[in-house]
This record gives sequence, structure tokens and C-alpha cells, in this order.
Amino acid sequence: MKPASPKLDLGIDRALSVPVYLQICHRFKTAIAQGHLHSGDRVPAVRGLAMELNVARGTVEMAYRILADEGYLQVRGAAGTIVSSALPVSVSGPARAGKPPPATSAAASPHGSGAPKPYQLGLPAIDAFPRKVWNRLVAHRLRSGDASAFAYPDPAGFWPLRERIATYLGLSRGVECVPEQVFVTTGYRATLELVLRSLASPDDAFWFEDPGYILARRFLLEVNARLVPVPVDAHGISVERGLALNANARFAVVTPSHQSPMGVTLSLERRMALLDWAKANGSWVIEDDYDSEFRYAGRPLPALKSLDQHDRVIYSGTFSKVMFPGLRLAYVVAPLSATQRFHEVSASMNAGSPYLLQASVTDFMAEGHFARHLKKMRLLYAHRREITARALSEVFGERLSINLPPGGLQMAAHFVDGTDDAAVADRANPGGFGEQALSRWYMAAPPQSGLVLGFANIVDEDQAMRRALELKRAADA
Ligand SMILES: Cc1ncc(COP(=O)(O)O)c(C=O)c1O
Repeated sequence: MKPASPKLDLGIDRALSVPVYLQICHRFKTAIAQGHLHSGDRVPAVRGLAMELNVARGTVEMAYRILADEGYLQVRGAAGTIVSSALPVSVSGPARAGKPPPATSAAASPHGSGAPKPYQLGLPAIDAFPRKVWNRLVAHRLRSGDASAFAYPDPAGFWPLRERIATYLGLSRGVECVPEQVFVTTGYRATLELVLRSLASPDDAFWFEDPGYILARRFLLEVNARLVPVPVDAHGISVERGLALNANARFAVVTPSHQSPMGVTLSLERRMALLDWAKANGSWVIEDDYDSEFRYAGRPLPALKSLDQHDRVIYSGTFSKVMFPGLRLAYVVAPLSATQRFHEVSASMNAGSPYLLQASVTDFMAEGHFARHLKKMRLLYAHRREITARALSEVFGERLSINLPPGGLQMAAHFVDGTDDAAVADRANPGGFGEQALSRWYMAAPPQSGLVLGFANIVDEDQAMRRALELKRAADA
């Protein structure tokens, strides 16, 4: 049975000359006409509503009787009162009012939401996550009755999780930090917000990779950051071009391990040049290390932060790829010199992340499931990357040039014949493919036509082939 609509506003005005029971009738009729209440929706019980409105039960009973007589409500005794299933057309509201129009492909999040799509970006293998283990850990925390679960969480993050993250980063990413530097956030955008509020001033310029992560670009533009698009080539962001475009930028936002979306790795020479520039200029480098745990050729590269001798790199990581994005848990390592500032800002900016999830992730790490899962996923993704690329090359032939990425969960592929990638993505996405038009990720550099495709949810060769054929149909339409 459907609950009463939370949008029902029954504020009563006793100063009006209209009797209260008629005001109640009027509010119900309006809610139905405006589509906030629908046929079959349950309305509040008489006693509950009377208490809520601070009126006598008889007043509400009278209103309900009138509404039932007029055909708006159906009284079903102990089964409760519902909005009539046979409302006259003239009074029934629009289909579920308040639903926003669907976002256009260009404006929608590249990660989508809801059920996973085969080429959806940024999504780890949903079928391969150890759900039983996870459910057990969450249930255990839930049952523990720990009083912390009911109190406000620490806005900087659950301390044992901050400790675990610091240890993990030291061992796996070469990032030396203390837990006090680690701040848990609800995702990369929250991380950026924390960084900006802690360190940025209104006129600061930001080097931004071109092409670059579309959601970060939108966020930064939204907060009026002055973006300086800096071209990306086979060695990552061109520091030389950055210097020529704006040597005094205060920030550089980069994806050194696995450039988003091109998949290239920032060369050692450029890493050093970036750090030298940041030191000389007193600038900050925001290292977005979103999916570096997955590397298929050679060993995972240490983070840029591991080379940072002068405390200029702000390291950003996430649990979205190594666990799952529905968690909404990420983290940022503040520069030592700015840790106190981050602390103050995080305390005033947000109310923290849910205790239950943070505590369960801590257990997931402490019991070794995290490391085991990563190990398994590296093998699985290497296979899925390969079958996805093979099927696409077989189906598209030379028309599509695929950059097989050395790491990560997505690949970029170029149309060599100038196919209109945005049109392909728009045609394919209503069918639920999830791939993105590469040209939309550019700002100032001449856009390449191509597709950015997630491959973690392509489960076998058969599916890889079927999806590639469907995509080809969309490209040919
Ligand atoms: C380039 C890039 N940075 C960061 C993230 C992490 O975002 P979040 O932690 O908000 O899920 C993603 C997710 O796909 C990404 O693609």
C-alpha cells in the first residue's frame, strides 16, 4: 500500500472565517488536483492527522466524510482510507507531479544512475562485489548497538577509517601521510569543495586537463573557478603549455595515473616539471587518483603525491571504483601545512558521512576483504578490458581506433572517419548503453570524435559482441 504523500501540506489557518473541516477538505482537493496525491495513496489516519493539526478528531472525521461523499476518498474501515480509485477526470492531477524533465545526454552525469549500463563510465563490476561479506559486515555493525551509530559523525571522517586509509596509501600508493591529514568526503565533488573552500580565493586560475573529467569541469565552472584548459597528449597534461597559458595559476587539477578520459599516464618528466612549477609558484596540484589501483601492464605506478617533497600535492582518492559508487565515500589527503584549515572547513561545511558505511568499510579493510577484492578485480578487469576491445575492433574494424588503457575501468576509442560521436551517443543512450561522446570532454583543444566506454560490466565475450553490434547499429543509423 502506498503511503500518504509527504508533499501534503495541511497547514490550517484558524484566523480564516472558513471552518477548519472545510479547510482540510480544500487542502486534500488541491493536493489531488496538483498531483501530490494519487488514486490509491493512503491518507493519514483520523487520530494521527487530528493530533498533527491540533484539532478535534471529529473535525477530521467530518472532513473525511465530506471528501468520501464527494468521491475523493474511499473509506475501507480497518484497512484505512485511501484516495478514491475512481477520481473524476476533472479533479485528478497530472501523472506524478513534480517530476523533472529528463536530462539531455549532454547535461546528464556521465556515470548515469540506477541500473548499470554495459558501457557505463566509472562503474566497477557490480556482479563481482562480495555482497555476502559486505552484508554481513554492515549487519554486524548495525546489531552492535554502538552508541556512535546514533550520534553525529565526525565531519572529518570516522577515525579508524582515516587510520586505515593512511596505512593503505602508504603501502599501496607510496603516499606518506598521517591520519590527521585524511578527510573522508562523500565523493570527488565534495573533495573539490573542501579543497576550494580551504585554499582557493575568488580570482584563482586552475589548470584543467583538456580533454578532462567532465564532472569536475562542471563543478568548477559552477563555482566560477577560472579554468585554464591545458592540452593533454600521449604523456599527459602538457606542463609546458600550462606555463605558456598561465604560469601563475594557483591550482592544477590532474589525473596522473590514468588520465580521464584519454587513459594515458603522466610521464615522470612531466611529473617533476609539475612539482617544480608548484613549488616555485606556491601553487597546489590536485591529484585525482580515482582508479589507479587497477593496472594491467606492469606494476601500479606510485602516486604523484609520493614524489612531492614540498607539500604541494593534494591527494584525492575514492571508494567508488575499489568498492562501489553507491557508498558515496571518498577521501582527500590535505597538505600538512593546511591540515588545520581543512579541519576547520570540514567542520563547518558538512555534517560528515554516515557512520554505518564508514565503519563497515573499515571492517572490510581490516579483515582483508579489500585487498582480496582488489586482487581479484585486477584479473577480472584485465579480461573484460580485452574482450571489450576485441569485440569493438572486430565489429568496427579500422573505423574505430582503440587506445587500450594500461589501467582503469574505461577506454577511449576514436572514430577515424569523423563520425559524429555526440549523435551516436545520443542515439545509443536512450537504449541504455552508457558510453559517452569523447568530443564533449574537450574545452578549447580541437575535439576528437570518439567514445569513452566503461568495460567493467561487460561480463563475457558473447555480451561484448552483442553490445559492440548494437553500438555499431547506433553509429550507422
Ligand atoms: C576522473 C574521475 N575522478 C574522480 C572520480 C570519483 O568520483 P566519486 O568519488 O565522486 O565517485 C571519478 C569517478 O568515476 C572519475 O571518473
